[in-house]
Amino acid sequence: MSIRIAIIAGTRPEFIKLAPLIKLIVEDRQFNLILIHSGQHYDRNLSLKFFEDLDLPNPAINIEVGSGTHAYQIGFLVQEIEKIILETEPDIILSQGDTNTVLASSLATRKLNKCFLHLEAGIRSFDKKMPEEVNRIVTGICSMYHFAPTERAGLNLLFEGVDRESIFIVGNTIVDSVLQTRELSETKSKIFKKLNIKNNLPIILITLHRPANVDIRENVKKFIETIKSLNNFQFIFPIHPRTKKNLINFKLYNKLENLENVIITEPLGYLDFYSIFSKSLCVLTDSGGIQEEALILRVPCITLRNNTERPETLEYGSSVLVGMDMNKLKSEIFKIKTNSEYLKGKSTKNPFGDGKTSERIIQIIKELYNKNLLNLDQSKLWSRIPNRNLIEVEHLKEPITVINYEIANRVKIQMLFNVKGAPCFPYDHKLIRNQYKLLLNSN
Ligand code: UD1
Ligand code: UDP
Repeated sequence: MSIRIAIIAGTRPEFIKLAPLIKLIVEDRQFNLILIHSGQHYDRNLSLKFFEDLDLPNPAINIEVGSGTHAYQIGFLVQEIEKIILETEPDIILSQGDTNTVLASSLATRKLNKCFLHLEAGIRSFDKKMPEEVNRIVTGICSMYHFAPTERAGLNLLFEGVDRESIFIVGNTIVDSVLQTRELSETKSKIFKKLNIKNNLPIILITLHRPANVDIRENVKKFIETIKSLNNFQFIFPIHPRTKKNLINFKLYNKLENLENVIITEPLGYLDFYSIFSKSLCVLTDSGGIQEEALILRVPCITLRNNTERPETLEYGSSVLVGMDMNKLKSEIFKIKTNSEYLKGKSTKNPFGDGKTSERIIQIIKELYNKNLLNLDQSKLWSRIPNRNLIEVEHLKEPITVINYEIANRVKIQMLFNVKGAPCFPYDHKLIRNQYKLLLNSN
């Protein structure tokens, strides 16, 4: 019996982060893939180029939702995805990230009582004005299983009341993508020649597309003035269509185009983008994925946001938040210029994983399938009344693993707090010690 899996994706970062998983699924005879493109991104250099660069199979279906208001995109996609699920009858539906495509996929699936798997689950910026934050939370509610990239993301889900047994901390597939792209980019990309980039000035890569930044004229104006003043650097700015459209409307596009120290390009394919990124002094960005990639590539990241759903990048020391404060931005660039180790992060373990996240996900899906746990009717996860209470551990002669504690005491541990009161994810093999507090979920 093969597992019929529908993967729904629609934007640039989703193609990039799903590519390693899709490739494994295509090669694995236990899976039968239905690849669905929502059409949220439709320009060649935001969509087709990534299928070529990442060697992805053609989607079986393209919904072609196109652009529009959030209500339009989500409403149209929910209706179309419902039809597709009913027609193609997948066992499971999977999406990655936090776009309108992902929200619509999870909602349509949930309403049909089918099994939705969410990749990159549980990350939170705690900024509900950010459209993606609402998408993440609602998708979390609609998902049956959550593949969280980090322990912190897993904890966010636990604090929202998500059942621990439905959460798997697996890392982020972005590490798989970056590691698989390195060699290809070196051999295939000719972007330095194409853009006539001279290496005599340090390169600073820019990407901007968040509505909170680029939908506000004043923000873009001061940003352009700031980079104009930094004439000892070579800026390279692949412009997202949303940003370009706004710059034209704000009558600022020509101003940017005329700057001598800036090369403006259309959005780049992954191999070309990677080639410039890996050789840059630093990156200025409001992108989510680029914060992660900067950490992996050891390229300092100046994040033009006031918050981030990737706080691991701040803790690791590979990124700094400057918002739209242009003085801070300049000061960070000079710190990077004068100190070659600044914002390169720790050399310890990468918080986003080891490049084997896709393999882990495949393994978990197979195990769930073999135990018949992908079937909503069979799973108890959706209909349990939680009976929660907090206890303090005492009288242990020696530390005991979570799994052994659960078996011995016939309880389920939802969360645990260590002696300092810090919340920890109750991995099966985590050791429990005296004075730990356990939030039990016994039903
Ligand atoms: C979307 C996601 C965002 C993600 C980003 C990745 C949501 C709410 N937003 O933002 O989370 O970080 O993708 O890049 O899902 N446009 C084109 N060509 C295209 C696509 C869009 O010109 O192929 C233009 C349209 O004018 C559109 C605007 O870009 O109005 C914004 O597109 P949209 O898909 O709404 O959001 P993004 O800003 O791309
Ligand atoms: N990217 C790219 N070409 C570009 C700009 C970005 O290939 O011109 C890649 C980048 O390496 C990262 C992803 O696109 O993997 C990030 O996409 P984006 O910033 O649009 O979305 P976000 O991650 O913010 O959701």
